[in-house]
Amino acid sequence: MLKIGDLKLKSNLILAPMAGVTDLPFRTLNHRFGAELAFIEMLNCRSLGHKSKKTAQMMSTNETDRPLGVQLLGCEPAYIERAMDVLEKYRFDVLDFNAACPERKVTRRGEGASLLQNPPKLQQLLKLVVRRTEKPVTVKIRTGWDKDSVNAGEVARLAEDAGVRAIFIHGRTKQQLYAGSVDYKTIRQVKKSVKIPVIGSGDVFSAALAQKMFDETGCDGILVARGALGNPWIFEQIRHYLKTGKELPAPAMEEITRVMKEHLELCVDFFGEKFGVIIYRKFFGWYTKGFRKIRALREAATGAKTQAAVLGVIDQIGCLRYPRPAASSVK
Ligand SMILES: Cc1cc2nc3c(=O)[nH]c(=O)nc-3n(C[C@H](O)[C@H](O)[C@H](O)COP(=O)(O)O)c2cc1C
Repeated sequence: MLKIGDLKLKSNLILAPMAGVTDLPFRTLNHRFGAELAFIEMLNCRSLGHKSKKTAQMMSTNETDRPLGVQLLGCEPAYIERAMDVLEKYRFDVLDFNAACPERKVTRRGEGASLLQNPPKLQQLLKLVVRRTEKPVTVKIRTGWDKDSVNAGEVARLAEDAGVRAIFIHGRTKQQLYAGSVDYKTIRQVKKSVKIPVIGSGDVFSAALAQKMFDETGCDGILVARGALGNPWIFEQIRHYLKTGKELPAPAMEEITRVMKEHLELCVDFFGEKFGVIIYRKFFGWYTKGFRKIRALREAATGAKTQAAVLGVIDQIGCLRYPRPAASSVK
């Protein structure tokens, strides 16, 4: 269905890298709901350490967490090479290079989206990464730095020449951050400029918007990011819609609370009870987004210190009126 180098994917629905979000518990759930490939959050080449406990935890995976994507953030060849040495002992299937992150603390170091301002330098770095690994290398870009320097087509061609096996593109400029609408036209141009697969990213919040990304851009696959927050069902909704043209109903309240409990358990198993409960708080907020009269329960979840206490709060959600809009509506 989608081939990235030698890696054959069974579907073209991919969970995007999200810093602070795409940990093993979150990936496990999303894989199960239909994310074919899922990414770990970006790893900074400078801070990837050989013996670092944090690196080992970030790179933790298991049999159900495959295929797995890793993404590197960096701009200095020496650090990139060292990071690649560190990665050698870990299991993963795709190695992505980040030229998309718009955060100031990243771009002012010359990393992430700032590399779009220097395509030859980005190409050199990509060549280095390709040379140093057997894994298929991909690159994640934005449409350009700002609206006056949209250059994703040129960047994609240089990346392809460097040996990159797929392009992930978020259809916004660096300056836009997450504002404004997705620039489907530029994604379409990128698709026309290269032979390797192009995977579109941006505002895939519903099955209909996934279909729109395919229709408007001709892309080979899609990345889902914010649309999966508190909503792993989005992957089965998209899969069903692409196959049948019909929307699945939004999950029932019992299903939502069942998955919330399972996610909590995965967090506690992976991070331990103390940190698992803390890490889970943001997910509780996302699962219950838009729920009426949820404030008191959110506060209770934030104050809860044990798994049992959070479970008690989740049980009370079942008593709220079901508030979610239809699963899928084009914005
Ligand atoms: C919380 C958060 C963290 C993100 N972290 C990363 C990251 O580590 N690497 C990356 O390439 N993109 C990152 N992104 C960008 C997403 O991968 C995606 O391209 C972007 O959010 C647009 O897709 P969406 O509209 O479906 O959210 C992040 C986005 C969010 C919301």
